[in-house]
Amino acid sequence: MTLLMVCQHPLVKHKLTLLRDVKTEHRQFRELVREITLLMAYEVTQDIELMPKEVQTPMGTAQGHYASEKIGLVPIMRAGMGMMDGMLEILPSVQVWHIGVYRDEHTLKPIEYYNKLPPVPGVQICIVLDPMLATGGSAIATVNIIKRWGVNKIKFFGLLAAPEGVAALSAAHPDVPIHVAALDERLNDIGFIVPGLGDAGDRMFGT
Ligand code: PRP
Repeated sequence: MTLLMVCQHPLVKHKLTLLRDVKTEHRQFRELVREITLLMAYEVTQDIELMPKEVQTPMGTAQGHYASEKIGLVPIMRAGMGMMDGMLEILPSVQVWHIGVYRDEHTLKPIEYYNKLPPVPGVQICIVLDPMLATGGSAIATVNIIKRWGVNKIKFFGLLAAPEGVAALSAAHPDVPIHVAALDERLNDIGFIVPGLGDAGDRMFGT
């Protein structure tokens, strides 16, 4: 089963169009990634579990809630770093666990290069951040790492996906919901999303 959610918010569509534009420069690119992430965070976190919590207001006692699950954000370096600011703006107290994975340019296979996860996880849910889901290899490798760590409630949060990446991630991890701002047409012969937005890491960091 494919758990794909493509955001339909008009502001996300507007900002994504600016993000794709080849004329958009690094500073505005980073700002747009932050804004789109912030807008989409509402949807991505909509099923976070709540526990009842009583709170004293100046006027009396209110029956409220608190988010009972400990959340870990898992940005895939490099480009996933660009989504951190938007997420931390609404989830300032969560844990952040960086994972380094890059794609080999020739084979397109994921290569893991950074992982400092402690032996025992202190979170119950992980949200994987990476703007691009192309072949899906980097996302699958990262979800594999998180599941081996011992966390099984995982979401993938990206900006653009190719159908090939959605199919691969869903086949490898059918339990992982995929949230993106758009589902594009296809991958080209060098593994880039078309029409896409180019290389997200390069556009974000000016490299
Ligand atoms: C890009 C992107 C994803 C990955 C997607 O990273 O940010 O991590 O490729 O491709 P996949 O779905 O085919 O694995 P890249 O390997 O260019 O590394 P970078 O972010 O360090 O530039």
